[in-house]
Amino acid sequence: KPTLPEKIDYVFKVVVIGDSAVGKTQLLSRFTQNEFCFNSKSTIGVEFQTRTITLQGKLVKAQIWDTAGQERYRAVTSAYYRGALGAMVVYDITKRVSFDHVARWVEDLRVHADDSAVIMLVGNKADLAANNRAVPTEDAVELAETQRLFFAEVSALSGGNVDDAFFRLLEEIF
Ligand code: GTP
Repeated sequence: KPTLPEKIDYVFKVVVIGDSAVGKTQLLSRFTQNEFCFNSKSTIGVEFQTRTITLQGKLVKAQIWDTAGQERYRAVTSAYYRGALGAMVVYDITKRVSFDHVARWVEDLRVHADDSAVIMLVGNKADLAANNRAVPTEDAVELAETQRLFFAEVSALSGGNVDDAFFRLLEEIF
């Protein structure tokens, strides 16, 4: 049976940013393909993946952009942020420094992205929380409150909370 062509009502561009190795690429492939790749390479440049979801009876194509967190690729910023309706600022709950850099990433967003862009703070690798947590949840909640961000802890590896976080962001944009 042939599949009917999708009639997309909206396209929402969302950018995923954060330090290198926090798991940006894995979060994307978990959300768009429900996959986790154990031997992923560091992202070079920019790429995007899409997933179409239904929100309040409308077909919304989420176009999720992934960039390299490494400083030497940071030159892409302006074009990367252009037209973004939402952003995920990702840190690794086992790497304090990746959380300490969140303020810089948010600042970057406030400079380059639209003022109305919805921002969500995302603590990834929650599957490692029991033995390797370096960022208490309360610290992140506090930062999210002062910077007025949405917040979620997720695991791209287990898939825990990943859909929830993306759906929350997309619903907020809608
Ligand atoms: P850059 O492309 O360099 O900016 O990195 P990135 O943020 O895209 O990180 P990437 O998705 O490549 O993941 C980095 C490493 O963390 C990889 O070894 C992943 O397997 C691992 N990783 C990603 N997400 C998780 C997670 O939820 N849990 C665990 N335990 N490991 C993860």
